[in-house]
Amino acid sequence: MKHLLPLPRRAETGPGSAEIAPGSSVSGPAPLTDAVRLALPVLDLRVLDLRVLDLRVLDLRPGDAATAAVRVEEDPRLGPEAYELTIAGDGVRIAAGDRAGAFYAAQTLRQLLPAEAFRSAVAPGTSWTVPCGRVEDAPRFSWRGAHLDVARNFLPKREVLRMIDLMALHKLNRLHLHLADDQGWRVESRAFPLLHEVGSHRPQTITSHKGEAPAFDGVPHGGHYTLSDLAEIAACARAREVMVVPEIDVPGHASAVLAAYPALASRPQERYEVLDRWGISPAILSPLPATVDFLTTVFAEITDALGDVPYFHIGGDECVLDDWAASAEISAYQASLGLETTGDLHAWFLRRLADALAERGSRAVVWDEAFVSGRLRPDTVVMPWRGEHVARRAAAAGHDVVATPVFPMYFDYAEAASPEEPAGLGDAITVADVVAFAPAPSEWPEEERARVIGAQFQLWSERIPDGRTLDYRAWPRGCAAAEVAWTGGPAAPEDFFPRLEAHLARLDAFGVEYRPLSGPRPWQRGGTGWRRHRPGAVDVQDVMRHLHELSLSADSTRPSL
Ligand code: ACM
Repeated sequence: MKHLLPLPRRAETGPGSAEIAPGSSVSGPAPLTDAVRLALPVLDLRVLDLRVLDLRVLDLRPGDAATAAVRVEEDPRLGPEAYELTIAGDGVRIAAGDRAGAFYAAQTLRQLLPAEAFRSAVAPGTSWTVPCGRVEDAPRFSWRGAHLDVARNFLPKREVLRMIDLMALHKLNRLHLHLADDQGWRVESRAFPLLHEVGSHRPQTITSHKGEAPAFDGVPHGGHYTLSDLAEIAACARAREVMVVPEIDVPGHASAVLAAYPALASRPQERYEVLDRWGISPAILSPLPATVDFLTTVFAEITDALGDVPYFHIGGDECVLDDWAASAEISAYQASLGLETTGDLHAWFLRRLADALAERGSRAVVWDEAFVSGRLRPDTVVMPWRGEHVARRAAAAGHDVVATPVFPMYFDYAEAASPEEPAGLGDAITVADVVAFAPAPSEWPEEERARVIGAQFQLWSERIPDGRTLDYRAWPRGCAAAEVAWTGGPAAPEDFFPRLEAHLARLDAFGVEYRPLSGPRPWQRGGTGWRRHRPGAVDVQDVMRHLHELSLSADSTRPSL
């Protein structure tokens, strides 16, 4: 029981061990046994559901259920996602309050088996023994998230599905898909097909770093998910207890939408292009009713494809509102609503969208600028990326909060201030920084702490061109984030790192190209060109100080990083 990650609430090791050979049976109620099988794919467990099986046809004895290698039972006393796992000489017993609890019990069991359990086929000669003992477990937070920016650099569907698998084995349960930004629109729209036909590709991408003369790779970049892809991603995610949270970031970050539909701009005569460089662009959607109608239609397409969508992220960050102020039509509209400032109009616009989402059963999620502008629906979830100060303000105002601060949850920053690292946005966020994080600090008053529903790491992809780099950026910092989100954090390094070392053998077996704790392998370094890291150019602590000041200022919809 020593090397479980994330750390369970209680774990006791008993004497002896049990064996669960591939092809053993699992018995219990159908949705729970299904979850157990899915979490232990290499064992290829046989389900014995005595309520549905015809015992005579299968020539089973009633006693088989009692002697199944893994017995699962529903226990209504246990809360959401909670489980009890008991391993004795005669087999394994799982009690869970719901399907998620059974799934997580099986993930824990998988970690107790040899690391070979993380391969996709049985390695010959493996002895499938687990130590006897008992685990009682439940998460501290209900939102244990990973954010994936598929807009700046598109990631093919297979990478998203693989991310879901990796999330599941870390008991992470929210995949926040950032589907639209200045550099690309990544989902099919049947109602407005130019969104994916025009908005999903760009002719080239900038390779130079901040402060260098602009240089471009000359390579077209593109891709989008069809609505059927989204449905498939959501179904695979759901089976693994992961909820997909789509994000269409509005009203800023709008170059790709406006390249497709310039009539939605605040300055419709302007020519827009899908951006080939990074940074904050002034391209912004008009807040007029036609835009709200357009977005409501697009949101409905995405929601219908995904199925159940309890949360829908509408962005709201980094908006340059100058075009609104310069437009006579928008100023007249603002006045007709009785709103004083463009900041008020920003808040009003997001509120209209949140209301439209609520009518379809989704709660809106926003980045924290939208909270600072005020007037949110009370049920809107806030992601305070600019740090603890604004997180606390949102919590005190009664919003549910998912902790997403740049430090230490932005994994596009390099793991070390070293030219040996592949290019990151800045320096440096380490595994140790992540395990030291407490999403709901103990110094906060209890009512504010209770508003923190979870934590999430961000994988902004300006410098994540492919799946190999994604692995490197995400793990093992993602393991530390999973620990903190499951337990509430922080973890003591002397307890966490030995568990992590053992866990890395599981990731090796799974085939993850994570960043070794001792630093990158030669082929993981950035080489000599643009993929090489520029240490010292951006210090994450300076960034946090700057964002902190912005989060305190009145006009804070526009950070200028
Ligand atoms: C953000 O980093 N603009 C949410």
